[in-house]
Amino acid sequence: MREVQGNILRAYGDRYRAVRHLVLTVDDRFAARRALGLMVDGDRSTPDVTSGDRPPKEAGYQWCLNVGFTFAGLAAFGVPAASLDTFPPEFRDGMAARASRLGDVGDSAPAGWVGGLAETRRVHLVVTIHGWTRSDVDGVAEEVMAAAGGRAFSRLSDETFDGEVLYDPVTRRRLVHFGYADGISQPRFVDVHDPSASPDQLPMAPVGVVLLGYPSAIPHVSWNVPQPKVLGHNGTFNAFRVLGQDVAGFEGFLAAVEAKHGLDRELTAAKLCGRWRSGVPLSLAPTAAQAEAFRDDVHLNDFDYVDGDPDGVICPIGAHIRRTNPRGAHIVQRSSNRSRSLIRRGIPYGPRWDPGDAATRDTPRGLLGNFLCASLAAQFEAMQYDWINLGFQDPRITGTNDPLLGANDPATSSFTWPRQGADPLVLRGFKRFVVTRGGAYTFLPSLPAMRWIAAQTE
Ligand code: HEM
Repeated sequence: MREVQGNILRAYGDRYRAVRHLVLTVDDRFAARRALGLMVDGDRSTPDVTSGDRPPKEAGYQWCLNVGFTFAGLAAFGVPAASLDTFPPEFRDGMAARASRLGDVGDSAPAGWVGGLAETRRVHLVVTIHGWTRSDVDGVAEEVMAAAGGRAFSRLSDETFDGEVLYDPVTRRRLVHFGYADGISQPRFVDVHDPSASPDQLPMAPVGVVLLGYPSAIPHVSWNVPQPKVLGHNGTFNAFRVLGQDVAGFEGFLAAVEAKHGLDRELTAAKLCGRWRSGVPLSLAPTAAQAEAFRDDVHLNDFDYVDGDPDGVICPIGAHIRRTNPRGAHIVQRSSNRSRSLIRRGIPYGPRWDPGDAATRDTPRGLLGNFLCASLAAQFEAMQYDWINLGFQDPRITGTNDPLLGANDPATSSFTWPRQGADPLVLRGFKRFVVTRGGAYTFLPSLPAMRWIAAQTE
């Protein structure tokens, strides 16, 4: 996998705590191609793109670099029209044009997006730098901008897309701003991951879940590889999302449920997500006491809903992780159970939420998310459209949205909490806790593909 960009099949790892996404527009095509060439085969005066063959820390690097091209970006680099035409329609449209199916409406609509991200034709590159420290990232960002005499590209706006890993001080697990542990469940790839290292009742996934040019997870279906082959093969698509989180609103909702129904807020938080905030799944630890006693980090994904919990009495069918990965459950899109899976590489932005700290209470915070897959339409969009929002996968949740991040409206929102031997509890009136502040569809080409792009002459 030397030819594939890093952080796709394997994560860079916890050492890389700081991230910056540079959203760039190409100013000078010739300089941009020179800069790209230097990033792939340079003399190290320009930072080089990280390949997926070995963890960068083994190479002694304190930073890693990824380059994602939008459709407009490929055109700006001079990729010929005959080749551009072979990319899938959702990528050609760009994320902003797909807003209605992504639930990016109202406050999340592209009209309110930050950093110029709604200007689809001007967003050309998302260059992502991970570093051990913020100053590692700053240094590499400066070098990227200075590449090829500094004339290649410029930033679209002053908006910085800087994130920092948040850790739970006790468990040392990575957190998202609502206080949940993250980065637990990901597809494990055949010939890449050791299945015994993280037992999971889901089968190992083919690399075609995320890389172009290989069999996909759907029998007999392979995604079209953009042409020429050198450009498309070993590439992957990415949905870059800037997702603002209303932590005060979320905590307020947990408190309101406690006040009205006498339910412990940690239990409500677990029911909304499908995992306790510690990361322990409800399916393996249905009660708070069991979750507290659960000390087994290796088996956090070793469960299924199909036999033990078909009706969602333990993990509600509408909970975030059950919606986004129904595992073996009998869902409407039965053939899709695993075909929508994707790789998530998100890092939070903004200060840790502390209700007692007036100085940071209202500072924007959220997730800089990357959702990597071989088909944006069949994986990312399908998950976002009819599983996260709408709940088409099970008639018992159809018409409801994901309680953590769906496009909810207090007038219509509802979350069904099935209970053993009692009527289900239906929680209503909650707002949208996650707002889209921007995003872009990018293509992360292989290293040979970037050489090919850099060698274009148009
Ligand atoms: C700010 C927004 C989001 C938050 C706070 C959030 C939070 C979480 C948390 C806490 C988990 C459980 C930890 C884990 O399994 O690693 C999780 C899992 C997951 N999330 Fe999200 N998420 C967000 C956005 C999204 C989006 C936009 C998607 C898809 C389009 C998504 C798809 C998934 C998937 C596929 C899983 C793994 C489910 C499993 O395999 O069990 N998430 N998320």
